[in-house]
Amino acid sequence: MEYHIYENARSACEAAGVLIAAQITRKGDSILGLATGSTPIPAYEMLVQWYNRGVIDFGRIRTFNLDEYVGIDYANPLSYHAFMNEHLFSKVNLRPENIHLPSGCTAADGEAYDRAIHEAGGIDIQLLGIGRNGHIGFNEPADSFTYGTHVVTLTENTIEANARFFKSADEVPRQAISMGIGNIMAAKCVVLVATGAAKAEAVFKTIRGPITPKVPASILQLHPCCVILTDREAGALLS
Ligand code: PGA
Repeated sequence: MEYHIYENARSACEAAGVLIAAQITRKGDSILGLATGSTPIPAYEMLVQWYNRGVIDFGRIRTFNLDEYVGIDYANPLSYHAFMNEHLFSKVNLRPENIHLPSGCTAADGEAYDRAIHEAGGIDIQLLGIGRNGHIGFNEPADSFTYGTHVVTLTENTIEANARFFKSADEVPRQAISMGIGNIMAAKCVVLVATGAAKAEAVFKTIRGPITPKVPASILQLHPCCVILTDREAGALLS
């Protein structure tokens, strides 16, 4: 497992943008695994800038997002669909039919998403944030690792962390549909970005702790191509 600690959050996030841009440059029909949250925003800003300057082209790129809330309309500005539209999809030449986010609330919906990823040829590069509790996507700490895309009940910790986007914690949806750990591990390369002191413990446990479903990201120790990018605060416990 490789990690790099940057002076500030912006640099750590932009470095993730560099890795995605490199993937697009090397393989114009790449399959990107994308993430929402505050952390990836600077990476998307860089990708949009490079697209505007003609450095990268999304014409043949396909994307699969990690997760979406259950029971929230796509038009709702707090949906992950809307987030991705605002920060990336509406600003580059991605074809609408090449954009995928999980949806629905049944096991069959999850299986359909897994099939779509598989039929596309698998994810070349998966971008990830990390929760304060070590979650990746909406794979919350649990007694076992999940495999495919599945419906999850959010933990209080995650509801509280996501309440900042809603009027109150009461409005945060209680369920989401998320790629599983198996989907993430099947990506050819994984790039995890973590910034801020609140993530330091999760980062430390991910890299140095035992591999356990209680810290879902710790499984990445077994991934053959995983790069972790942090700012000084999130990487503080590593040195
Ligand atoms: P954040 O979310 O980037 O908004 O901190 C990351 C996550 O919870 O996966």
